[in-house]
Amino acid sequence: MQRSSPLIAAHTVTRRFDSATGDLVTVLDGIDLDIVEGDYLALTGPSGSGKTTLLSCLSGLDQPSSGSVHIRDDDLAALDDKALAHIRRTTLGFVFQRTDLLDELVVIDNILLPAIRRSGRVSADTLASTVELMDRLGIGKLGGRAPHELSGGQRQRVGICRALVNRPPILIADEPTGALHRESTEDVLDVFDELNASGMTIVVVTHDPVVARRARSRRHLVDGRMVDEPAHRAGEQSDF
Ligand SMILES: Nc1ncnc2c1ncn2[C@@H]1O[C@H](COP(=O)(O)OP(=O)(O)O)[C@@H](O)[C@H]1O
Ligand SMILES: [Mg+2]
Repeated sequence: MQRSSPLIAAHTVTRRFDSATGDLVTVLDGIDLDIVEGDYLALTGPSGSGKTTLLSCLSGLDQPSSGSVHIRDDDLAALDDKALAHIRRTTLGFVFQRTDLLDELVVIDNILLPAIRRSGRVSADTLASTVELMDRLGIGKLGGRAPHELSGGQRQRVGICRALVNRPPILIADEPTGALHRESTEDVLDVFDELNASGMTIVVVTHDPVVARRARSRRHLVDGRMVDEPAHRAGEQSDF
C-alpha cells in the first residue's frame, strides 16, 4: 500500500541557539521526519537531546535555523503569524511539558477555552465529550477548582483534556505522563490508543519506556540527531 503524503514533513531541520558564552550551539542537527495520517510516534532521547525543540519546530512555535517544516502543503516558514495561528488552532492539539493554565478561570473553563477561541461557543457535544474525558482521566470532580489548587499530575491531565477539546487531527504531546502515577498513565494511554484507532495522528515525547512501547513506532534523538532505537535487550538499562 502506498504511504499517503505526510501531515507533517521535516526536512534537514537544524536549530542553533546562542549560548551564554557567545558560541552557537547546535540543538537539532539535520532532522528528517515524515509523519503521516494515522501515525502514532514516540520520540525518546536523553534530557537535553532536543525533543522539546523539535516539537516546537514541528508545530510552528519555533523556527528552524535551516531546513523546512511543512504541515500538509504549507511551508511554515512562508506563513505569517496569523496563518500559523490558524493552522495550529485547526490542526494541532498540544500538550506542553508544563501545563500553563489561566488562574483567573476555573479548570473546566481552561479546558474549554480552545473551543471558545475557535468558534466562540461550546457545543453540547463538545461539553459532553469533555466531561466524559475528564471523568476517565480521574479529574471529573475538579471542573470548578482554581488551577492553583491542583497537583502537578492533575494539571497535566487538564492539559491533555484541553489539547483534545477541538478533536485535532494531530496531537503533539511533550512528556504528557511525566507527572502521573502508573494508573493515570494507563488511563491516558488507553485514551491515546482509542484516539489513534479513530484516526488521530499522535506524536508523543516520553522518557517512559511503557509509554514509548504503546506507540506504533519509535524514533530516538541523541544530541539533536535521529539515531536507531536503543536495543531493547532484556534487563538492560535503556538511556531513555
Ligand atoms: N531558547 C533557547 N535558547 C538557548 N538554548 C536552548 C533554548 N531552548 C533549548 N535550548 C537548549 O537546547 C537543548 C535541548 O533542549 P530541549 O529541546 O528542551 O531538550 P529535551 O526536551 O530533549 O530535554 C538544551 O541544551 C537546551 O538548553
Ligand atoms: Mg523537553
